[in-house]
Amino acid sequence: MAITTCVFDAYGTLYDVNAAARLLAQEPGQDALAAVWPELAAHWRAKQLEYTWLRATANRHTDFWQVTQDGLDWALEACALTDPELRERLLALYWELPAFAEVPDMLGTLKARGLQTAILSNGSPDMLRGAIDSAGLAPLLDAALSVEEVGVFKPHDRVYDLVQQRFPGDRAEVLFVSSNGWDACAAAGYGFTTVWVNRAGAPLDRLYAQPQHSLPDLTTLPDLL
Ligand code: LAC
Repeated sequence: MAITTCVFDAYGTLYDVNAAARLLAQEPGQDALAAVWPELAAHWRAKQLEYTWLRATANRHTDFWQVTQDGLDWALEACALTDPELRERLLALYWELPAFAEVPDMLGTLKARGLQTAILSNGSPDMLRGAIDSAGLAPLLDAALSVEEVGVFKPHDRVYDLVQQRFPGDRAEVLFVSSNGWDACAAAGYGFTTVWVNRAGAPLDRLYAQPQHSLPDLTTLPDLL
């Protein structure tokens, strides 16, 4: 079945979530952060995601900005980083995360071929707007769909339903692209054609469905179409 629409996860897929800690650690005077930034970034991301799943399971939704702050607070404490200014700088950087280098050309190729393109993300609408504008991606995306429209995080089916509502058609005509293995598996279970962008060379998640494709990054994504 021909793909008509390419839908991307945002954080970790289009945007480098480790960049906030990495970039700040490179600044003069950030020795404490420089010593632990990979650990901090890993804890931050892991807790951020864990809190989305726990809140979805407990039916206690809050927006992604709140769980991003909560995850950072856990990570800072775990790394014994106590400077409040550091917290504010890291959070500010999260609003302007860089896109991975291959993203603009890849999206441009998809648009030139007449495909519809969108983001489907846990991110709140404000966070997504900030990320899209700071990376200059607005002209390359037809929609930015946020879970805030349905009030539950991925991988709930109601989130993937947002794609169907915005781009009606057969589910298999959607190419769903995520670097999060669990998101790619869940989207495959929903019925999308899926690509797992396995940037870290991680094992495949053992869930109820498997992505059809796996790529090391987004460079060759248009070749799948
Ligand atoms: C997102 C998270 C899962 O953008 O990365 O939805």
